[in-house]
Amino acid sequence: MVLYKTALVTGASAGFGYSICELLASKGLHVIAVARRKDKLAELAKKNPLIMPLVYDVTSNENIITKIEKLAPPFNQVDVLINNAGLALGQDKSQHALIEDWDTMVETNIKGLLHVTHALLPNMVKRNKGYVINIGSTAGTWPYEGGNVYGATKAFVEQFSRNLRTDLKGTAVKISVIKPGLCQDTEFSYTRFKGDAKKVFDVYKDTEAISPHDIADMVLYLISTPPHLNINSVEMMPVCQTYGGLSVTRNLDLKEHPN
Ligand SMILES: NC(=O)c1ccc[n+]([C@@H]2O[C@H](COP(=O)([O-])OP(=O)(O)OC[C@H]3O[C@@H](n4cnc5c(N)ncnc54)[C@H](OP(=O)(O)O)[C@@H]3O)[C@@H](O)[C@H]2O)c1
Repeated sequence: MVLYKTALVTGASAGFGYSICELLASKGLHVIAVARRKDKLAELAKKNPLIMPLVYDVTSNENIITKIEKLAPPFNQVDVLINNAGLALGQDKSQHALIEDWDTMVETNIKGLLHVTHALLPNMVKRNKGYVINIGSTAGTWPYEGGNVYGATKAFVEQFSRNLRTDLKGTAVKISVIKPGLCQDTEFSYTRFKGDAKKVFDVYKDTEAISPHDIADMVLYLISTPPHLNINSVEMMPVCQTYGGLSVTRNLDLKEHPN
């Protein structure tokens, strides 16, 4: 049974966030759906009157609280925060990556998540009621070529979640991190490969990956756990995906090359 009345979901205009909003609203929660694209949020909000669209860029300096306080009750008090907005940009090796892409990932995946959490957490602690669910990634634990800064931002999300958990000692506020592996039916790879349809196709070719519904089901499960139980971390992969092992370069050239 869900013990919470309201949820705020960042990154609600597509992928996981969209499905999470739909599912939580269908279970009777009042859901604030946050993203930058007004049209997508409007389309989502049409599906259920319990969904309140809120256009907000998590990288902006505006405090999200000023926007939430203006909403009609019960939307003006958030019980569950789903920090889902995030992105990967590029999959080139570090030496070829664009610094602008690195900056955007840090701004969104780290600073955006921090700012929204910082704005909403004090009220949860004050009321001794709340749940923060951070969307990390297997990329935060298991390195892969070209995962450089994206994986590092998700490692931050995982460690921040653990540290939050220690800070919440002595309160009833819960915190979990969900770390998904390969997921399909989202805009993630389109964003990462900047619309390169061939690269996107190759990511999912001949696989059955995790769906946004699987992630939404996990969120619903977590917020339905009894008050005494905190699930710290959930790592999810499709059955077709597993660990890659360490790599070895044979006949490696160790001599310095002239400039
Ligand atoms: N798909 C995967 O394979 C996968 C695997 C592991 C983890 N994840 C993580 O799961 C989360 C959701 O991924 P997804 O696959 O659902 O991606 P998606 O389909 O691309 O959705 C990303 C969402 O984030 C929003 N967003 C991006 N920048 C934002 C900003 N500055 N302010 C507010 N909203 C912003 C986007 O909306 P607007 O553009 O409208 O703002 C969109 O709603 C991300 O954190 C991602 O890193 C994804």
